[in-house]
Amino acid sequence: MAAAQPPVTRSTRARHEALLEWFGRRQRDLPWRRTRDPWAVLVAELMLQQTQVSRVLPKYEAFLDQWPTPAACASAPLGDVVTAWAGLGYNRRAVNLHRCAQQVVAEHGGELPDDLTALLALPGIGPYTARAVLAFAFESDEVGVLDTNAARVLARWSGRSLKPKEARALADASVAPAAGWAWNQAMLDLGATVCTPRAPRCDECPVVEWCAWSSAGRPQPDPAVGSAGVSTGQSRFDGSDRQGRGRLVDALRAGPVSSAALAAAMGWPDDPVRATRVAATVVADGLAVVAPDGTHHLPA
Ligand code: ADE
Repeated sequence: MAAAQPPVTRSTRARHEALLEWFGRRQRDLPWRRTRDPWAVLVAELMLQQTQVSRVLPKYEAFLDQWPTPAACASAPLGDVVTAWAGLGYNRRAVNLHRCAQQVVAEHGGELPDDLTALLALPGIGPYTARAVLAFAFESDEVGVLDTNAARVLARWSGRSLKPKEARALADASVAPAAGWAWNQAMLDLGATVCTPRAPRCDECPVVEWCAWSSAGRPQPDPAVGSAGVSTGQSRFDGSDRQGRGRLVDALRAGPVSSAALAAAMGWPDDPVRATRVAATVVADGLAVVAPDGTHHLPA
């Protein structure tokens, strides 16, 4: 398949300059933008993957103060890492991060590798995270970081929904030469603050003149909907299994939960069958262990 080409209507260089100039004026001051330490970047990107910036901010620096290196995290009890993850949701990310730290120590001398294949081989590191570490820690100019925000921007620029390979190729091809770090951060900010899912502020967009969708008068359907990498939104939380899982892990952070207390801890006092079934998924994910008497604990 031919790689998708950026919809250049003026020079690509002018588009690079326009977005980078906007980023220089409007960038959000965020703590993970003040570091190039690969571990710190990895922690930020994992926290940010399904959690809003405002909820990550109070947790990020505390986490790194506690575990400033992969080796420090790897030697901590997993339960402590799960406890530090409180308030971020999607607790499996804490298990993955701990496993990743252990593998980095075992296979890479405690330093995150700087190549895509080696990063992708680590637990919990998918295509988004691997590219983010390359761009934001190692300042690679070769990779486009494709989170939901950047993916939405690219689909609108193209004026059509993109397939996964196209989106990745377009993201890579769009990166401004010798400015991969700033370009990729700018794309995330543009998507988060201007090129938003609903009611995008095209009048404030520094690169609107390169946008096929805006130039066409924003016809529906929005090409970002269903385009590769654009999230479909999180499913309903209230009443979900995920809510019960989260409640169980919250309870475990405070102490062991006996089998008799399990259903109430999960918010389903009248449905012990559901509680037992869902608690088993928490155990299978490595977030809890069960003692012979049925008591659940955080892992050691
Ligand atoms: N979301 C994911 N990565 C981010 C970053 N580096 N800055 C702001 N928001 C982000």
